[in-house]
Amino acid sequence: MLRFGHMALPGPLKRFFCSIANATTVLLNPTERVITIKNATNEDKKMHFPLAWLRDNCPCPVCYSASSELRNLKMMDFCPRVNAVSVQMSEQSESMTVSWDDGHSSSYRLEWLRAVAFGADTAGRQRPPLTRNRPVLWCDASKATAPIWQPKKVRFEHIMKSDAELLLTLLELEERGLVLIEDCGVDSEVVKNICKRLSFPRTTHYGETFEMRAEAKPRNLGYTSDRLDFHTDLPYMHEQPGVQALLCQVQASGPGGDSLFADGFSAAEHIRRSRPDLFRLLTTVPVRFRDRGQLADRRFDLVATHATIELDCQPDGEWCYRRVHFSNQQRDLLQAWPLADVQLIYDALKAFNDVIEGRDISSDSSKVQLQVKLRSGEMALFDNSRLLHSRTGFSGERQLAGAYLLWDEVLSRRRTLESQLQIGRQD
Ligand code: OGA
Ligand code: ZN
Ligand code: ZN
Repeated sequence: MLRFGHMALPGPLKRFFCSIANATTVLLNPTERVITIKNATNEDKKMHFPLAWLRDNCPCPVCYSASSELRNLKMMDFCPRVNAVSVQMSEQSESMTVSWDDGHSSSYRLEWLRAVAFGADTAGRQRPPLTRNRPVLWCDASKATAPIWQPKKVRFEHIMKSDAELLLTLLELEERGLVLIEDCGVDSEVVKNICKRLSFPRTTHYGETFEMRAEAKPRNLGYTSDRLDFHTDLPYMHEQPGVQALLCQVQASGPGGDSLFADGFSAAEHIRRSRPDLFRLLTTVPVRFRDRGQLADRRFDLVATHATIELDCQPDGEWCYRRVHFSNQQRDLLQAWPLADVQLIYDALKAFNDVIEGRDISSDSSKVQLQVKLRSGEMALFDNSRLLHSRTGFSGERQLAGAYLLWDEVLSRRRTLESQLQIGRQD
């Protein structure tokens, strides 16, 4: 990976390396508390650097630890109102040196400054890469029809052996939310091995991995042979694991036992367009979830509240879907809802479920929902913070093994694979 100063340069910016112009001027504006670098030949290419930000990101070995790639400057030693006493460009315009009124002096390479500058647009934003790739919705809510989407299938052996195949699988999981892994075998160790290949299994009260079959005294409705409502797993946790692996060990030999997946973000988008009043409730009303009981010799009582549809809102007003939390069986009896709102909150929950189930006449269920009967040895790897899942009822024997993972760890794996394979932005 190419490194300049104390930060690696984003891939797309590498093309600027050799175009450093000679006629570079640097201006200090003490009132705005900004240093601006401009090129005489290109007014549009103004780069702005707030003084506080520049001092905060001094790349010298006192202020920055190159080995850990972390800031060494302590907040208690940093003054956000620091002033620049002088600013100088080197003779060949290769670097800029700033002397500060706290007695420190910092030198910044121009290549690095170009990569990290605040822009010249009206808001003058610095544009860091997104923390995750944008989800690709299964259904375009603005179009009447869309092709039925089919999940990508990969072979277990391929993702275990090939880093490139693993990366493609993780990208698909991030963008579509679902990948099917074939020829896994039926040993529950396989689930653990997949988790370790992706990151780590996230232990819960169900253990590092768990097995599910119909039981005489079910600890939740998953352990029956009934049809399940569409749900996300573990909504009763605030730090809910965002990725789930489900391996089919034994599939029902007769009809039923099919897995159903629905894109919660597509459903949310549909509600946003058709019923903005209900969308507002689904994105703001906290719903309390609870699960309690005993597993082995340990009692548990897990409680969390979430809005049904969680949004990620940026300071500039941009937003995107973040997570969906929905589980009819685990929604708690007690809710802190104002009496006057209760009816509408139920209407909103039901409307969301109707879109998911394809009962809303104005939506095409085939776009939001997908049905697949996993064969034994087949595994579904899916985004538990976006997809809702379910299964059809069955009779006879059927067994699944599962595990959870954290999105943070999976995204970390995706980024390091990209940098190892030199794909995408290497920042
Ligand atoms: C569950 C569940 C899926 C299945 O128990 O939470 O989603 O296919 N089970 O049995
Ligand atoms: Zn320094
Ligand atoms: Zn489930």
